[in-house]
Amino acid sequence: MAMDLELEGRTALVTGASRGIGRGAALALAAEGVKVAVGARRRELLEELADEIVAAGGKRPAIIVTPDLAVAGGGAYKVKDEALAALGHIDILVNSAGRSQNPDYPGRMPYDAPDTAWDQEMQLNYVTIRQLTLALIPGMIERKYGRIINISGKTEPWQLHTANPPKAAVHGFSKGLSRQVAKHGVTVNSIPPGKIISEQILRNYSEQQRKETSKWIPSGGFGDPSDIANLVVFLASPLARYITGAVIPVDSGFRRYAY
Ligand SMILES: NC(=O)c1ccc[n+]([C@@H]2O[C@H](COP(=O)([O-])OP(=O)(O)OC[C@H]3O[C@@H](n4cnc5c(N)ncnc54)[C@H](OP(=O)(O)O)[C@@H]3O)[C@@H](O)[C@H]2O)c1
Repeated sequence: MAMDLELEGRTALVTGASRGIGRGAALALAAEGVKVAVGARRRELLEELADEIVAAGGKRPAIIVTPDLAVAGGGAYKVKDEALAALGHIDILVNSAGRSQNPDYPGRMPYDAPDTAWDQEMQLNYVTIRQLTLALIPGMIERKYGRIINISGKTEPWQLHTANPPKAAVHGFSKGLSRQVAKHGVTVNSIPPGKIISEQILRNYSEQQRKETSKWIPSGGFGDPSDIANLVVFLASPLARYITGAVIPVDSGFRRYAY
């Protein structure tokens, strides 16, 4: 018998849904009968995604045009308010808005970059996730069902990299929170992707660089957003009730740590 993920009729907010992994997660959740709210800055891409979801037989998603979430100033709370207004309640939160490079510093951001630049990366890749998560947790506890799924990233640095500290913060935050809310039916997990073809990957890696990097990936190539989305839908489902506080890499064995 086919596995029933028991997701039909649930609700989800997916940030960073205009492109890449967030988009893949929104498509996969909608295909399971989840009513989704999709957030990002580019409305036209969210409209395209909504049409694609409907064409595939899913429920039309609510579109949430977000402010720049790398800028402090309550953007996460605005997104939360709009998502709740659209969906009534939220069972599943997929935090996928993020980036591994500051657009003002293509390549590697130097360690003497101004505080504002470092703070923006922390704001987008950690503070926004923390704010949105904590704002939605009370409703999840009340309804005795909640799934927080953070698309994080690697935390073991080659050298100083803007994305490592906020991703490590996400893992620590999620672990601590997971222990506090588990008894209420709420799980909190993180997925650090390996190398997944997405908008930022196509922007940051030339074809030659992708070829070189592929040599270090045991299966020999980059993954696809659906490779992450398959785990997202499982973690979102009631079947994953006993998985929490976990950091589950989806990277085809790219990283070599074992634990
Ligand atoms: N792909 C990989 O191999 C990989 C590896 C490690 C970690 N990750 C992590 O996975 C997450 C998703 O990345 P991705 O690769 O799927 O990237 P992507 O294809 O570039 O998509 C990023 C998404 O985040 C939104 N976003 C970016 N900056 C934003 C901002 N300042 N304010 C609001 N929304 C913003 C974008 O939408 P708009 O531009 O329309 O707002 C877009 O929907 C990120 O946290 C990234 O660090 C990815």
